Amino acid sequence: MLDYLDDIPGEVNAVLVTGDITDHGTPAEYQEAARLLGTCRFPVLTCPGNHDERSAYRAVFPDGRAESPVNQVHRLAGATFAMCDSSIPGRAGDLLDDSTIDWLDEVLTAAPRDEPAFVCFHHPPVRLGVPFVDAIRQFGEQRLAELLQRHQHVLAVLCGYVHTAAAATFAGLPLRVAPGVVSMIVPPRETGTIIDYRLPPGFAFRAVGEDRGLVTHFRSL
Ligand SMILES: [Fe+2]
Repeated sequence: MLDYLDDIPGEVNAVLVTGDITDHGTPAEYQEAARLLGTCRFPVLTCPGNHDERSAYRAVFPDGRAESPVNQVHRLAGATFAMCDSSIPGRAGDLLDDSTIDWLDEVLTAAPRDEPAFVCFHHPPVRLGVPFVDAIRQFGEQRLAELLQRHQHVLAVLCGYVHTAAAATFAGLPLRVAPGVVSMIVPPRETGTIIDYRLPPGFAFRAVGEDRGLVTHFRSL
C-alpha cells in the first residue's frame, strides 16, 4: 500500500491509519510500523486500536502527553483531524473515555468553524452487520452523537477495526470504515470463516468537494 502511494504522481494531504498499528503491541512491532510509515512521503496520522498498547505506542508515536488515552489533533490542508483513542486497555471493543469526550469537545470548539473537521478512531460506534465485530464495537455512542451534533463543522467520522470497506451514518454524519490492510472480515452470508485472507487488502482515498461533500474511492491491491 505504501509502495502504491509512493508511486502515484499526485499528492495526498494526509494518510490516516485508524488502528491497529500493531498486532501484539510489542516495541519491535512499533519500530517496524514506524519504519514502514516513515517511508511515506505524505503526513501520516495515527490512532491506536484494540491491539495496541499505549505506552509502547507512545514511545514511537509520541503525543506529548504522559497519561492515557492517546488523543491527538492535527490541522493540515485546511482541515482538522481529531485522532481519538477508542481503546480500553485489556478489552477488545469499547468506548471513548470520559477524558477523550472532553478533549474532543475542546478540540472541536477550538477548530475553525469554516473548515471541515474529521473525527477519527478505531472502533465504529454503530452495528455494521458483522456479528464478530458488532459485539465488540464502540459503545456509549449516545454521548458521542450529542457531542458531534453540537459541532456542525464535523464533516465525517472515519474509523477502522472492522476489516471491511463500509459506509454508514452516525449522528446524521457519514461514517466511513476503512478496509483491512492484511485481512478482510465480511458478513457471514458471504463466507463461512470470520477472517478471510483470500480477499485483497485495500485502502480508501477520501476527498472533500467544493460543496463539502465527501467522496470516497476504494482501492484493492
Ligand atoms: Fe482492531
